[in-house]
Amino acid sequence: MKVAIIMGSDSDLLVMVEAAKFLEEFNIPYEVSIVSAHRTPKRLYEYAEAAKDNGISVIIAGAGGSAHLPGMVASITTLPVIGVPIKSKVLDGVDSLYSIVQMPSGVPVATVSINGARNAGILAASILALSNAEIAKKLQDFKDAMSEAVIVKAEKLEQLGYYEYLL
Ligand code: RP5
Repeated sequence: MKVAIIMGSDSDLLVMVEAAKFLEEFNIPYEVSIVSAHRTPKRLYEYAEAAKDNGISVIIAGAGGSAHLPGMVASITTLPVIGVPIKSKVLDGVDSLYSIVQMPSGVPVATVSINGARNAGILAASILALSNAEIAKKLQDFKDAMSEAVIVKAEKLEQLGYYEYLL
């Protein structure tokens, strides 16, 4: 059981590390690499075709601009593919988002928000949790902690009022 985190360029790395950090928090094994749909198309094909045999359970693929990596990977493998649209310089990542999310019927990519690599890590953990009780327990604890943090803030705001809360 392993998650693959791949991206089109090392310029995507600072965003994609958020997926890796989340998986580390959960002790989920992962590998990380660069696979470019446009600059290394042969490598993309070989990587996606071999992923299942290489022990990969979920693929997180980040790409920016004319972002074909997640969709092409999904067209080659039956593994679940989570796409991370990277914020691009010219169109702010809307181009990446549309490229990744608008897949044709039959070839889905589970697309997270622009630069949403942490959510991609969480979604990968959720998929693995279906067959792993330890990860499922950690996810539940994670969600409970998030809820608790909001309750603490809500109580503080109700007690203090907005003015003092913001001081
Ligand atoms: C895409 O092109 C990459 O995913 C990256 O987001 C974008 C720009 O790549 P570089 O020119 O910075 O290598 O393939």
